[in-house]
Amino acid sequence: MARAAVVGAGMTKFGVHDKPLQELFGEAALPALDDAGVEPSEIDAFYFGNAMSGQAENDTHLGPKLASHVGMAGVPVQRFEDACATSSNAFKNAVEAVDAGIHDVVLVGGVERCTPETGKDTAAMTRIFASASHRQYEQPTGLTFPGVFALFTKRHMHEYGTTEEQLAEVAVKNHGNGALNPNAHFGKETTVEEALDGPIVADPFRLMDCCPFSDGASAVVVVSDEMADSYDAPVDVSGVGHATDVVPIGDKDTPHVTQAARDAAAQAYEQADSSAAEMDFAEVHDCFTGAEILASEALGLVEDGQGGPAAEAGRTARDGDVPINPSGGLKAKGHPIGATGTAQLVELTEQLRGTAGERQIDGADRAVAHNLGGDAATTVVTVMEARR
Ligand code: COA
Repeated sequence: MARAAVVGAGMTKFGVHDKPLQELFGEAALPALDDAGVEPSEIDAFYFGNAMSGQAENDTHLGPKLASHVGMAGVPVQRFEDACATSSNAFKNAVEAVDAGIHDVVLVGGVERCTPETGKDTAAMTRIFASASHRQYEQPTGLTFPGVFALFTKRHMHEYGTTEEQLAEVAVKNHGNGALNPNAHFGKETTVEEALDGPIVADPFRLMDCCPFSDGASAVVVVSDEMADSYDAPVDVSGVGHATDVVPIGDKDTPHVTQAARDAAAQAYEQADSSAAEMDFAEVHDCFTGAEILASEALGLVEDGQGGPAAEAGRTARDGDVPINPSGGLKAKGHPIGATGTAQLVELTEQLRGTAGERQIDGADRAVAHNLGGDAATTVVTVMEARR
C-alpha cells in the first residue's frame, strides 16, 4: 500500500519571468489540476513553498493570494520555508496529511522569482540566499552558497581524489538532458573543455558547475492511496524521509558525507520497502556539480568515493545503470528555490507515467528524488513508483 499518490502535475518553464508570483504559480497549478481532472473547488487543502519572496520582492502572506488566483479562495493554506528544500517539505506534509486521513485531495506546489526581474541583481540575490546560512558564524565571514558547496566538494576531492574533469562531466550530462527538456532554463549543451575553461565562481566551481538564478513554479495534486484509482494516471508515493543536520558547517566532522541525506534516504527506502539498487533513476539537488556527486553517494546509488568516477564513466547518463537528473537537474533545468522540490516530483511523475518524451528513461518504474536546503542541513528524500 502506498502512502499517497500524485494524480496531477504541472510546471512552468524555468527561466526569466516578468509576472507576479500568483500569476506564475497559476501557470503551474492550473495545468496540474487539469491533469488530475480536479476542479479548484475540490481541493481540501493547499500546501506550498516559497523561500524568499519577502526579501526579494516585498511580497509575503502568499497563501491566500495564490489560492485566490487559482480559484481556491477559502481553502486552508500552509506555507513552508526550508531554503532549497522548501516545497519538498510541503509535499512531505501533504503526504502525511492524506496518509493520516486528515485531507483527501491536496494541492502542493512552489513558486519563486530569483532573477533580476525581481529588481535584485546577482550580488543582491546572493546575499539574500546567504540568509539560509548561520547568522552569527557564517554570514559575517562572507560565506555564500557557491562557497558552502565548494567547501563540501573540496573535502570530497581531498578524501577520494575527485577531479575537476569529473565535475565537468556532471555539467555536460545535465546540460545535455536539459536540452531535451522544454521547461529547462538552459536549452544548450556544453562540453568538458568549455566547462573547464569557464570563469571561477568559488574554487573548484566554474560557471558551468553552478545552477543559475531562475524564476518558476511547479505543482502536484496529492490524494490518498484509497482514492488514487479513481484518477486517470496515478503515481504512487511509497516513501518520504526527512532529516536535518548540524549548522554551522564548521561543526560537521564530515561535511562531504551529507548525513541528513543518508538519514532521509534510509527512512524513504524503509517506508517503500525498497533500496537504492531498485531505483531506476534519481532526481537530485545538483545546485553545483559537486553536490550531485555527494548526493549520488548519500542515496546509496554508488559507493562512497565513486560519485566522480561514475559520472566520468557515463554511469549516471540517461542510458547508464544509475541515471541521475534526466530533467537536466538544477544545473540546467534551473533553480527557482521554492519551486525546485515539487518540480523534481513533476519529473518523477512524467517519467513513471512514461510521458517524458525525448528524455524518457526506458522502463522507468521506481525512482527517488533528493532535495536539500541550506548547508545540506535539511533534506527530503521521496520514493515514487508506477502504480501496479
Ligand atoms: N550556468 C551556465 N551559464 C550561466 C549560468 C550558469 N549557472 N549563469 C549564467 N550563465 C550564463 C548566462 O546565460 C549568460 O550567458 P550569455 O552571455 O551567453 O547570455 C552569462 O553566463 C552571464 O550571465 P549572468 O546572469 O550575467 O551571470 P552572473 O555572473 O550574474 O551569475 C553565477 C552567474 C554562476 C555567479 C550565478 O548564476 C550563481 O551565483 N549561481 C549560483 C546560484 C546559487 O547559489 N543558488 C543556490 C544554490 S544552493
